[in-house]
Amino acid sequence: MAWGADHRRTLPWRETRDPWCILVSEIMLQQTQADRVVPYYEAFVGAFPTPQACAAAPVGDVVRLWSGLGYNRRALNLHRAATVITAEHGGRVPHDDGALRALPGVGVYTARAVRAFAFADPVAPVDTNVMRILSRCVSGETRSVAETQRLADALVPSDDAWAFNQTVFDLGALVCTGTRPACGICPLNRQCVWRRRGRPDPDPWRASPSARPQSRFAGSTRQGRGRLVDALRRGVVTPEGLALACGWPDDPARAHDVAAALVAEGFAHWSTGRSRVLALR
Ligand code: ADE
Repeated sequence: MAWGADHRRTLPWRETRDPWCILVSEIMLQQTQADRVVPYYEAFVGAFPTPQACAAAPVGDVVRLWSGLGYNRRALNLHRAATVITAEHGGRVPHDDGALRALPGVGVYTARAVRAFAFADPVAPVDTNVMRILSRCVSGETRSVAETQRLADALVPSDDAWAFNQTVFDLGALVCTGTRPACGICPLNRQCVWRRRGRPDPDPWRASPSARPQSRFAGSTRQGRGRLVDALRRGVVTPEGLALACGWPDDPARAHDVAAALVAEGFAHWSTGRSRVLALR
């Protein structure tokens, strides 16, 4: 937390606690790096400062403001979410996790990000940065998404979820990076399990299915399917874990389609025991 206070990046969505602005920023940040998001975020909340303003605009205007950012489905979903917020929640972004996750394009990750950053709930949004830091520093080994989520939630201080989570993102972006972690300047270097063991190969993060390097397959169905199959190779996946296992934390519908294809092709099946889990055949 002390490191965060000194090193926190200045980013426009950190200057507000407005739930709509935070929702917009987190949807933009799902698949795009923070510095690229900044001008799009400013243009978007300038044009649509409230859910009502967004819902009242033709969807084409919303998609146009998005152009260049990629993954246009996010813009369509945001416009639909604005419509639901206006019609069903009196124009206010809901605080409740279930109501947030019922919004189009909002999955486990974004619901938690809105709760932590707009409402200061002591929960952790787990993205690839958080997966990487926790698998290196705390676990020293690859953990499932569900285990990492539980671990992350347990670490959040109840009185400063906002600063804790922003600091973890900054640590992941600036120090504990994917390819060249700067352990020498890391504030956690004395506690870090991976470093204390002498940074053995493989990096616990590299062994994780969400660690695939960006490639021209980034975002493709094949990539998500490969990640899901990797996760299934190591264990079972719950219905809630599908989206993150595919690397699409906020697109559970797409992840469910990929799972359905694996089942139809006879690769995997849904177990019929006490809890429903996907397993390799
Ligand atoms: N990535 C996801 N959420 C972020 C945030 N609030 N700040 C910086 N990077 C992020």
